[in-house]
Amino acid sequence: MTTPIVTLQDHEHAAQAVMSASAWAYFSGGAADEISLRRNVLAWQSQGLAPRVLQDLRGGHTRCNLLGKTWPMPLLVAPMAHQRWAHHEGESGMALAAAAQGCGFVLSHQTNTPLNKVASLIASEKDRGPLWFQLYWLTDRGAMRDLLQQVESAGYEALVLTVDAPVHGVRDRERHHGMALPEGIQTPHWPAPLNILAASHTAKVGLCAGLAAVAPTWADVQWLIGQTRLPVLLKGITHPEDARQAMAIGASGVVVSNHGGRVLDTLPATAELLPAIVDVVHSQPHGGAVLVDGGIRRGTDVFKALALGADAALIGRPALYGLAHAGARGAAHVLRLLRDEFEMTLALCGCPTPQAIHRGHLQALDPL
Ligand code: FNR
Ligand code: LAC
Repeated sequence: MTTPIVTLQDHEHAAQAVMSASAWAYFSGGAADEISLRRNVLAWQSQGLAPRVLQDLRGGHTRCNLLGKTWPMPLLVAPMAHQRWAHHEGESGMALAAAAQGCGFVLSHQTNTPLNKVASLIASEKDRGPLWFQLYWLTDRGAMRDLLQQVESAGYEALVLTVDAPVHGVRDRERHHGMALPEGIQTPHWPAPLNILAASHTAKVGLCAGLAAVAPTWADVQWLIGQTRLPVLLKGITHPEDARQAMAIGASGVVVSNHGGRVLDTLPATAELLPAIVDVVHSQPHGGAVLVDGGIRRGTDVFKALALGADAALIGRPALYGLAHAGARGAAHVLRLLRDEFEMTLALCGCPTPQAIHRGHLQALDPL
């Protein structure tokens, strides 16, 4: 008899069992010693909850407000490259799973499925979450304008510019296993050759070549914000001063992220970085959205993210694990588990809605 899958960890084990060593290294791995990768998970676990009993929970719901609209759940699937490498349903399967669970979906610039195909699958779903597009900077401004045009007309509701990965990062596990995309898997919107790693093995080129040559600056980001009618969020913000600057140049929000520990190792966990950034963004005249990702593995973690001031959380690897071993159904089950656990946490902490959550629902724990 096989054990039923009831946790995100069960999904992780099931995914590892069906993935090649090279795919597993790419999807599950992090940078260098994977300290930030582990710390992200531990930091949520180390926050204690402070529930209040006997609260009136009537009229409860999980709805949240993001960028001026109301959505069913404060949870989105983080942008992740190469989902067709994880499963043939790829980004289409993941987007359908997110929409079915009322969660948002952020399509990676390095998608293996065209952006208009993904949008046409879910844009008209009534109870879906936000549909956003993640961008890496393109040095060719004409190409960037063209992409923005496609993203806008396909129905995406916001742009998420990732600013923490001008280079790929030192990925030892990938280097051990080699990162070669299987035949036939393409990146229709990503012009640059991805294989920075291969380049690093050649004599004169270091890891900083390739993407580093196209790394944007604040002035570029300001230009981008002026080119689109869509709200722009910056993903990969870890410093309060960068959050302040993002808001000053007209960003609509930030995603507090260390890229799931995949780029620069020994960055603090995002649960540790979040409160100071929330304070900065909330002190701005027009406010802004603050989202967080990295290490979210339980509904209690989503609750804690909101208690520390995030408007919503994003989930990365676990959604991919669900997709990898069971396609859209697997990814949907991962999101369902998180959703159910989040609802249960809300009720058990005495909060009828996400808006009732505050920092007082957390308490510091002494190390045991
Ligand atoms: C990512 N991430 C990422 N981020 C981004 O902005 N663009 C991208 O294309 C990718 N690609 C990508 C691929 C894979 C396989 C992973 C695991 C991650 C980072 C992602 O959006 C997110 O920040 C982290 O995955 C969140 O951490 P957890 O939930 O995976 O711990
Ligand atoms: C990664 C890049 C694609 O984390 O963002 O693999």
